[in-house]
Amino acid sequence: MEYELPQTPASMPGVKVAVLGAGKMGGILLQAFLRNNLLHPEQIAATVAHPERAHALSTQFGVAVTTDNLQAARDADVILLGVKPLQVPALVEEIRPALTGNKLLLSFAASVKTSAIEDAAAMELGVIRAMPNTPAMLAAGITALCRGRFVLDEQLAIAQRIFSTVGRTVVVDEKHMDAVTGLSGSGPAFIYIIIEALAEAGVNVGLPRDIATQLAAQTTFGSARMVLETGYHPALLKDAVTTPAGCTVDGILQLEEGGLRVTLIKAVKRATQRAKELAAD
Ligand SMILES: NC(=O)c1ccc[n+]([C@@H]2O[C@H](COP(=O)([O-])OP(=O)(O)OC[C@H]3O[C@@H](n4cnc5c(N)ncnc54)[C@H](OP(=O)(O)O)[C@@H]3O)[C@@H](O)[C@H]2O)c1
Repeated sequence: MEYELPQTPASMPGVKVAVLGAGKMGGILLQAFLRNNLLHPEQIAATVAHPERAHALSTQFGVAVTTDNLQAARDADVILLGVKPLQVPALVEEIRPALTGNKLLLSFAASVKTSAIEDAAAMELGVIRAMPNTPAMLAAGITALCRGRFVLDEQLAIAQRIFSTVGRTVVVDEKHMDAVTGLSGSGPAFIYIIIEALAEAGVNVGLPRDIATQLAAQTTFGSARMVLETGYHPALLKDAVTTPAGCTVDGILQLEEGGLRVTLIKAVKRATQRAKELAAD
């Protein structure tokens, strides 16, 4: 398949990016770089484990995809690490001959600490760790970024630009990354359960399932936008919906009785704990 070169200059010109491990998340990022014209195809290289997948991806995206991590790393200024967490140290050791102090290693592997990557690299270079979430697929994700010991401000800015192609970004201290994993990493699953339950409730009170699902999902989406775009505290927005002696307050009473609030808090705490355990494995 021929890829039509964009006519406008890339918004991050002159930077070469390698995505080592272009699987689900890496593939989402690759597509976002091209869709947003952050990079032109010739600025991107990617790798996977299987040659046939490399060929298929290369044809699909019009970028160079190989199984040669070392070569891809040699040619890149920014090296994204997208393999499974347990594979990260070995991958960094593999590409060590290609690393120099001015390259940036940007890992989005869950639970892998920047210090583990710095140790595997065995040199002083910028390492940034990112935790994206699956709504990245629709450019509606949120990615938390934290910096390793040798990161320059301009490198952090590059990482933010890279992940802004798939949604919002926040910068946190590394000590908060497990909490991020428990909240925004696992969070989509918690929200899907809430949407599913609301839709089920709609069916229970007589709505057709497809209408109930749309009502539940769009209500979740709209409420999230209200929080993000008005900047009002969620409690204030909730109060605005809750008329005295009305329907909503009766519903809220049921939610409180059922312990929704405390259950969600416990879910995030438990997921955070699990992320800590995985990091220690
Ligand atoms: N998926 C998510 O929602 C999500 C969210 C946040 C963070 N993450 C992190 O993203 C990373 C990847 O997750 P994923 O879900 O995208 O997994 P995935 O789809 O399995 O992607 C892993 C990719 O790595 C490739 N690979 C394996 N060994 C390799 C090697 N030695 N050299 C180069 N490439 C190699 C695989 O190649 P083949 O395709 O040829 O097998 C595959 O394309 C994980 O560390 C995960 O923690 C994922």
